[in-house]
Amino acid sequence: MPKYRYIIFFFLVHIAPNSFAAGDPEAGKQKAQICAACHAVDGNSINPIWPKLAGQHAEYISKQLHDYNTGNRKNDLMSPMAANLGEQDIADLAAYFTSQKIKHGKADPDMLDLGAKIYRAGNIDAGVPACLACHGPTGRGNPAARYPALGGQHAAYIQAQLKAFREDARTNDCVPSWAG
Ligand code: HEC
Ligand code: HEC
Repeated sequence: MPKYRYIIFFFLVHIAPNSFAAGDPEAGKQKAQICAACHAVDGNSINPIWPKLAGQHAEYISKQLHDYNTGNRKNDLMSPMAANLGEQDIADLAAYFTSQKIKHGKADPDMLDLGAKIYRAGNIDAGVPACLACHGPTGRGNPAARYPALGGQHAAYIQAQLKAFREDARTNDCVPSWAG
């Protein structure tokens, strides 16, 4: 029954990324002490080029830590931090930071309208798709698909990541055509 074999294969491939160890937020809180220097105790980093982790999806945090760990995503500050993390550490840290509440900052009023327009409708002339298609109408992302939440994230960090995708300095996504 080859047809069923394909179905089972499809199923296994698609559940595999979610089959990491279950995380314990209490254990994660202890392990997160070392992260606090940059991301703050509650994951609301102060420095705008260090990402907030508070409330970010556990699935996405886990993927990023694996990516730094394997060298799929590289950063001079962050890569050494992930280098010695095991599966359980990653699961616990992801469970802790996702349980924290993100603190929103203030948007630059001069940029807000154009940003919202591109976010909702894209820019057809430049070939940019609507961001909400993946990151959701309110910027909450999609945990199952590992689309990160963007709402409340530092503007400077978001800008830096978009440039990094554009310049192929960050290549751990599925390379959307608009970033190529
Ligand atoms: C010395 C500062 C520093 C420390 C300590 C640190 N990080 Fe980071 N972290 C960063 C920087 C800078 C980035 C963004 C790097 C980039 O652009 O790829 C980052 C990115 C991340 C990301 C990706 C976030 C996203 O939105 O894509 C995760 C997840 C993360 N760190 C988790 C941790 C955890 C867990 C720890 C503790 C084990 C930790 N970090 C410790 C500086 C640090
Ligand atoms: C086809 C789906 C899709 C669309 C459309 C999309 N993104 Fe993303 N985006 C992703 C995925 C998937 C990731 C995470 C990649 C990874 O695993 O590192 C991501 C990551 C990001 C990040 C990095 C977040 C972080 O915490 O490091 C930013 C910023 C971002 N997207 C902004 C945008 C903006 C702005 C737009 C619209 C111009 C957009 N995205 C459109 C799928 C999409």
